[in-house]
Amino acid sequence: MSKVRSGMSALRAVLAGAGMLLCMVVLAAPAFGQTLAGRWTAEGRKLDNGEQEKSILELKQNGNQLTGTLKTLGFEVDVKGTATGNHFELFIEEWNPNRPVLVGDLVNGELHAMEGGRRPIVAKPATAADDIPAVAYIEPPALKPVPENGLAKTPPMGWNSWNIFQGRIDDQTVRTMADAMITSGMRDAGYIYVNIDDTWQGVRDAQGNLPANHKFPDMKALADYVHSKGLKLGIYSGPGTRTCAGYPASLGHEEQDAKMFAAWGIDYLKYDWCSAGRMYKNEALQPVYQKMGVALQATGRPIVYSLCEYGMGGVEKWGPQVGGNLWRTTGDIRDSWESMIGNVEKQVPTAPYAGPGRWNDPDMLEIGNGKMTDDEYRTHMSLWALVASPLLAGNDIRTMSDVTKSILLNKEVIAIDQDALGKQASPVKNGDLETWVKPLADGSVAVGVVNMGSAAAQATVKAADLGFAGPVKKARDLWAHQDVKFAAGAYTATVPSHGTLLLRVSAK
Ligand code: GLA
Repeated sequence: MSKVRSGMSALRAVLAGAGMLLCMVVLAAPAFGQTLAGRWTAEGRKLDNGEQEKSILELKQNGNQLTGTLKTLGFEVDVKGTATGNHFELFIEEWNPNRPVLVGDLVNGELHAMEGGRRPIVAKPATAADDIPAVAYIEPPALKPVPENGLAKTPPMGWNSWNIFQGRIDDQTVRTMADAMITSGMRDAGYIYVNIDDTWQGVRDAQGNLPANHKFPDMKALADYVHSKGLKLGIYSGPGTRTCAGYPASLGHEEQDAKMFAAWGIDYLKYDWCSAGRMYKNEALQPVYQKMGVALQATGRPIVYSLCEYGMGGVEKWGPQVGGNLWRTTGDIRDSWESMIGNVEKQVPTAPYAGPGRWNDPDMLEIGNGKMTDDEYRTHMSLWALVASPLLAGNDIRTMSDVTKSILLNKEVIAIDQDALGKQASPVKNGDLETWVKPLADGSVAVGVVNMGSAAAQATVKAADLGFAGPVKKARDLWAHQDVKFAAGAYTATVPSHGTLLLRVSAK
C-alpha cells in the first residue's frame, strides 16, 4: 500500500495535538461469523482553521490477524494487529511496534476504541462518500542543482514548538518563548532560531494565498518582535496538499508560499513530506524538494531550508543539491531512551555526508521534557553534539529546571556540536560501551563513551585510539567541567548507566 509517512511520528501528530485522526478506527461489530474487515470512518478534531479532520481505516482480517491502512488528511500508514473475538489491537509498526495505537471492541457494528490508550474513538462503517479527497497530480520538475545558499555553516541551533506543544502553539507562546530564550541565556549560547511547527495555517483563499489561522493574528508583527530580540523566526509547511496534522501545505503554491514567508520575515523553513506520499513515489523526493529550494532562493531572502522526510530516499546524498541545509535521517523522536538512541544510531551511514552547510538531522531535542533521566539527557546532548546534529530544543524554555539549563547551556558541549570542521562521529562498540570520536578544527578530538548498560561501568579512553601522533597534552571532562590527566596513555572513569563520559582531548 502506499505509505505516505514512512517512519515518522504521524501518530504523534495525531495523538499529540493536532490529533485528530487516529480516532477513527472503528470496527463494525462482527456478529457471528463477521470479521473486523472493512472500511471504517471516524471524524477527528476540528482543526484550528475550522476544517474537519477525518480518518479512514481499511482492514483485512485473516484468522485473528488484521492488516490494513489508516488514512487521514495528512498521512497514510500501514496498520497491523490482532482480533480476539470482538476485541482488537492495532499497531503502526514503523512508529512503535510495542505500543498499540488503537485498542477496542466491536460494539453494535461500531468500533469503540481508545486511541493511543487515551482518547475514546468511535468509528462507523464508511460509505463510498467517506473518503479523503484525491488531488490532481503535479509533475515534479526536472533535476537541476540548486546553488548553495551559504547558510548554516554550523548546525542550526534554536527552539521548535512541536515536541512540547504539538498543536498548542500560538503567537503569545512564541513571544514568551522568545523572551525566555534571552532571559535563560539560550540566545547568547547560540540558540537563535525560534521555529513554529505544524498547525499555524488557515485556509487558502481564492487567490491561493495561505493566511495563518486565528492563533497567529499577524505573522509579520510576530517576526518583527522575534527579530527585535536578536532571534530568527522559522515556519513549517510541506510539499503535499496537507501537513501531517492535516493543515494546508504548499503543493502547487510553492513560489507563492515562499514569497509570503519572505514577506513575513521568515528565516527558516521546515518542509515535511506527509501527504506528498499520497501522490509521489520516493523517486520524486529530490525534484519535489528542489521545487521549494528554488522558490526559497528566488525570494532573495536568506532562509535555512530543513527537509523533513524521515530519512527516506537517500536524502543525505542529494540534500545539498536541492538547496537543503539539513534533512531528517530518522522517524520522529520520542522522549524515551530507546527512541533517542535508535535515532542517533541510524546516523552511521550518513556520517560521510555531513559538513558545513549540510547536516544530517536525527530530530529535535527532548531534553527537559521529563521522561528520561538527567544522565540520559546528558547523553542525548553529548551524542547530538558528537554527530554534529542541529540543536533545536524541544522543551518549555520558560519553565526549565536548573539541571535542564545546565545541559542545554553547556558551552563546552555546544562547542563540540558547532565545531567549524563539521565532522560527524560514528560509534565503536565494546560490550555495553559505545565510543564516538569526533575530530575538531583545532586538531583536538571530542570523545564520548556512552554506557548502554543497566549498571555503572568503567570506561577507558586510550590516546592511541584518538589518532594522535604524540602524547596527550590536555584533556577535559566536559560534564564535570574539569581537566583530567591521561596516565600511561589512557584515562579511566566510572560512567553511570545510560550516562556519557565526554572528553575534549588535545595533543598540543
Ligand atoms: C511530522 C514531523 C514532526 C512534526 C509533525 C507535525 O511528524 O516529523 O517533526 O513536524 O510532523 O505534524
